[in-house]
Amino acid sequence: MEGSRIRRRFLDFFAEREHQVVPSSSLIPNDPSLLLTTAGMVQFKPFFLGEQPPSYPRATSCQKAFRTTDIDLVGETDRHLTLFEMLGNFSFGDYFKEEAVAFAWQLVTEGFGVEPDRLWATVFESDDEAEAIWKEHLPPDRIVRRGKKDNFWSMGVAGPCGPCSEIYVDRGPEHGAEGGPEVDEDRYLEIWNLVFMQNECDAAIEVAGDLPTKNIDTGMGLERMALVLQGVGSAFETDLLRPLLDEAERLSGRRYGEDGETDRSLRIVAEHGRATAFLIADGVVPSNEGRGYVLRRMLRRVVSHARRLGVHEDVTPALVERTVELFGEAYPDLVERKAFVLQVATSEEEHFGRTLRQGLTLFEEEVERAKGAGSSTFPGEAAFLYHDTYGFPIELTQELAREAGLQVDTERFELLMGEQRTRAREAAKGGPEERGLGEAAREAGSTEFVGYAHPRAEARLVAVVTGGERRETATEGERVEVLLDRTPFYAEGGGQVGDAGVIKTGSGEIRIEDTVAGPGATIVHRGVVASGEVRAGQEAEAEIDGARREATARSHTGTHVLHWTVRDLLGDHARQAGSLVAPGRLRFDFTHFEGLSRDLLEEVEGRANVRLAEDAPVRAYETTLDFAKSQGAIALFGEKYGDMVRVVEVGDYSIELCGGTHVGRTGQVALFLVQSEGSIGSGLRRIEALVGPDALEHVNRERRLLEEVAEILGAGDPRQAPDRARRAMAHLKELENELGSLRAKERGEQGGELLASATAVAGVPLVVAELGGDAGALREMALQLRGRLEPDGPGAVVLGTRDEKKATLVAAVTKGLIERGVTAPRLLEEAAATVGGGAGGKDHLAFAGGGKPDALAAALSGVPGRLEVLLRDA
Ligand code: SER
Repeated sequence: MEGSRIRRRFLDFFAEREHQVVPSSSLIPNDPSLLLTTAGMVQFKPFFLGEQPPSYPRATSCQKAFRTTDIDLVGETDRHLTLFEMLGNFSFGDYFKEEAVAFAWQLVTEGFGVEPDRLWATVFESDDEAEAIWKEHLPPDRIVRRGKKDNFWSMGVAGPCGPCSEIYVDRGPEHGAEGGPEVDEDRYLEIWNLVFMQNECDAAIEVAGDLPTKNIDTGMGLERMALVLQGVGSAFETDLLRPLLDEAERLSGRRYGEDGETDRSLRIVAEHGRATAFLIADGVVPSNEGRGYVLRRMLRRVVSHARRLGVHEDVTPALVERTVELFGEAYPDLVERKAFVLQVATSEEEHFGRTLRQGLTLFEEEVERAKGAGSSTFPGEAAFLYHDTYGFPIELTQELAREAGLQVDTERFELLMGEQRTRAREAAKGGPEERGLGEAAREAGSTEFVGYAHPRAEARLVAVVTGGERRETATEGERVEVLLDRTPFYAEGGGQVGDAGVIKTGSGEIRIEDTVAGPGATIVHRGVVASGEVRAGQEAEAEIDGARREATARSHTGTHVLHWTVRDLLGDHARQAGSLVAPGRLRFDFTHFEGLSRDLLEEVEGRANVRLAEDAPVRAYETTLDFAKSQGAIALFGEKYGDMVRVVEVGDYSIELCGGTHVGRTGQVALFLVQSEGSIGSGLRRIEALVGPDALEHVNRERRLLEEVAEILGAGDPRQAPDRARRAMAHLKELENELGSLRAKERGEQGGELLASATAVAGVPLVVAELGGDAGALREMALQLRGRLEPDGPGAVVLGTRDEKKATLVAAVTKGLIERGVTAPRLLEEAAATVGGGAGGKDHLAFAGGGKPDALAAALSGVPGRLEVLLRDA
């Protein structure tokens, strides 16, 4: 059975049983506690926690999921993948264990035709109920009780959790030892996990309480089911991954199944190639942190494993193409964003190619160092550094080290990796503050946002949090985070900054500086108690800073008009990839492959202003996602939208899904001024702009600047300033030239005089003098004189200068003199010692400096004698 049929059969089976079919959410989760979407349940978390009433009692989905924890296992086993498709059915307080097991049994045995005597089930150690239900289908010896590690499921962070029951298929004796999943999880392959989602756990993954309802969350790995139904040896040989493995074979000319190391590399190239295409399509771009880093690391593994297979051309384009072909139908975003995915993947591949070359040079140096020190060990620190900074997989370092006759200190390397993993895990969990707030938010439920229509609202202060802890009261001067039952404050989101303003209660006032989205559907107000004290539970009046909101609204409408203009002028590939909407200013990132010329940028600015001046109405309304899409509304990368969405229309030309706040008519934006345009990464450009009074202020500042420059240049009219400036610069150049030749002449004359003062020591002309100026002037003069002496004949110059603290000496000798054994450093040695220093330099030119300026005259007067001695000894 093909993968696509398994997918369809699963969803159809549950659709026929009143489950709403819900599309996969993005790999970028709408949940700050997670880096990437790890399971089908992630998008339903608010339903499980009771933070939001479920939109339907039952759901089913095929979710793209990603597990970073498995990156290093990919290729090692038959079943581990980073990206996989998870089929699931969900009940939100509707059916529970009995039905969940019955559904699963029916689908696996009848729907997918797996022979019942190949099936095993596990249950949580104390779950008698689940065991009893399984006994209706399976003999008792194929129902295994297991502990918390195996049969209690959580997200790995605080959140919903519960005991689970897993279904295993026996793949037969050729895959391992007899005895069930406890004995061999390669032979007994887990295909489906049924989670009885009934608890809530804290950050330490300890059960902290019960969820408001008893729920079901199941997950079946599509690739694993395909492995079983297609009777192949590993997930890589299913029709879901085999074509990518073929591609890796084709690119490398190597064959799968020939040897273990090659297989592993082929599997990594295939699996990571597919996974990275999905990540980029969901808006992840390579960077050095967070999910961007996960992507970067994986692309690097693709490239370096391809190198190990002997491929030296780019491999990502072919892998992306193949992925889009295979999965475009199930995930249309892949098709729509293909050009972008290709662009990002190739440019990262090229970039890494360069890094790899650089890294290799460093690697060779490290090898030299180790060998020089007589060691046969390649340091673990260096291996870690290559891994961390250059993305060198450890195997690559090991292989290269082996070739160089060294052994990598893998113990040290593993230790450092372990430390880094701990750091990453900690970072992924979110800080303690988030946790304290999470508790308050869960209790408070959602916050009603009334700020589209009202700048002010009567509300209740439902929670006060300081330093991550719930508090009854907070007093003047304390920093707080507060929750209201309803609020006019817009929480930072969709690029738009959060509102500022004040919240007043009968006893105190909080100055709100920022507003952000909190856990669940809450809105968190951050600020300082400005006076008195505030108490949880008090009635409050919340009012936003209206001027700031208006300035922000101008930026937001300006951004939509800019987005429209950019697409109109550059084409539909120019998609918004990020934005910042702040009071009076905006930053707009979009996908485009080259810089905008001055003229084009002016055209963007001009057209945007013409559009704005039409003073078209800006309308916002809620509708279904399907309707919005049918109207051609533009949705953004990585955003997750619910069933109901908000649409913002500007005139009859721009229509976007957007939760932000806007002006009523475009004329209110008044002025749109581009400040800069530039690249911010592969295929990504950024425009920064100002709107309204902020744009005007900027123009005024520039105008004042120009006036000031004009005044300095003596141009009565600023329009004459450029001409004046050009003329002034030309005049300056002329004067510089003139001054230069005068100086040269002067130096030449001075040189002539010095030359005339030369004495002869044993027939060798010698110039000795004390001059003004610094070491540079001295050097220049010494070289000039050396050049003016007979070049092949012998000759020497020694010049000195001094200030209060030190004496400086320069000596220059001709080639003829060097041939007679007298070099500049030797000539200067004695004089250098006299002024309290040492001499150094090249044969023909030497310097000396010392801390005894008063001894300079004596030092110079000793020079002829020194030359005489040197000539005699030579
Ligand atoms: N959430 C569970 C899992 O990921 C079942 O979907 O295994």
